[in-house]
Amino acid sequence: MKFKTIEWKGDHIRLLDQRKLPQEVRYLNCRDASSVAQAIRNMAIRGAPAIGVAAAMGIALAAKKIRSNRPEIFRRKVEKVCHLMGETRPTAVNLFWAIERMRAMLDQFQSEGVEGLKSRLEKEALRIYAEDLKVNRKIGENGKILIQNGSGVLTHCNAGGLATAGYGTALGVIRAAWAEGKRFHVYVDETRPLLQGARLTAWELIQEKIPCTVITDNMAGWLMEKGKINLVLVGADRIARNGDTANKIGTYSLAVLANWHRIPFYVAAPTSTFDFGLFSGRDIPIEERAGEEVTHIVGRRIAPGGVKVYNPAFDVTPHSLIEAIITEKGILRKPFIKSLRKLKTK
Ligand code: MRU
Repeated sequence: MKFKTIEWKGDHIRLLDQRKLPQEVRYLNCRDASSVAQAIRNMAIRGAPAIGVAAAMGIALAAKKIRSNRPEIFRRKVEKVCHLMGETRPTAVNLFWAIERMRAMLDQFQSEGVEGLKSRLEKEALRIYAEDLKVNRKIGENGKILIQNGSGVLTHCNAGGLATAGYGTALGVIRAAWAEGKRFHVYVDETRPLLQGARLTAWELIQEKIPCTVITDNMAGWLMEKGKINLVLVGADRIARNGDTANKIGTYSLAVLANWHRIPFYVAAPTSTFDFGLFSGRDIPIEERAGEEVTHIVGRRIAPGGVKVYNPAFDVTPHSLIEAIITEKGILRKPFIKSLRKLKTK
């Protein structure tokens, strides 16, 4: 990969500003917790694993800059930052998973004092980053078998290097299959309202020289009918215990279409995306975002002023429509309730 989504710089965090892509490759330097939280909220950085990494680095950075040497004050301040990060986006569970890992450092190494804790927090944030990279590569290795030579692969949103510490989940599978020498074509849903497919996934694929075609979201069904799509491959923001999967709005429609056309629908996600506390997708909180994301395209109004808007950022695909879930620990098959239970004990 020729770019870095996020980098720890010791006294600041450097993020590739995804709102500007593909027109501009511009970096954002975040020097405090509130600028990191802001970057997650306004989606300068986005994608479930990437926002988990950003939150963890944001907590480590804020902790490093706390001046008090009194453990109770230090802890209170770090807790406040954890809370701030947890308020940014509600759906992707990787965010809360990463925050919990950072919180756990405070309990586990309490005896090491403020300086010890600062270093523990920094190391943990860097570990979360490094693990994510490794996990994505493993997802790619495990999933590449599902893509055949000559296939048409449809993907939605961006589950690539930009949405993770690097390499990607759904795009990781595509990268790994391509690296192995398989030749196929990727169809990229543009992904309204924020166009993560057209702007970000296409940008990544073009850099890798993997042949791709951007389509508007409403073209997917017709392409399936025409026999151009052999499999659908998407990422995930939160997966419940029964396999129900929250992902970018529009994923559910694709899964229904794929099912009708008897095309396998695959989800690629790290195990940090599983929420074992939720029995089904009904309990997954769905973020609603500002109406301007729908009424405007890249800053330009396209709908009449005053019109009502509904803008859920995610939807939930029922497990019955999912053929398999590709994780770093292997490919999970149905019934997911069983394969997930097994995975938990691995
Ligand atoms: O709103 P976004 O752009 O953060 O949504 C991202 C997605 O829905 C991705 O598909 C998901 O986070 C998986 S990323 C590996």
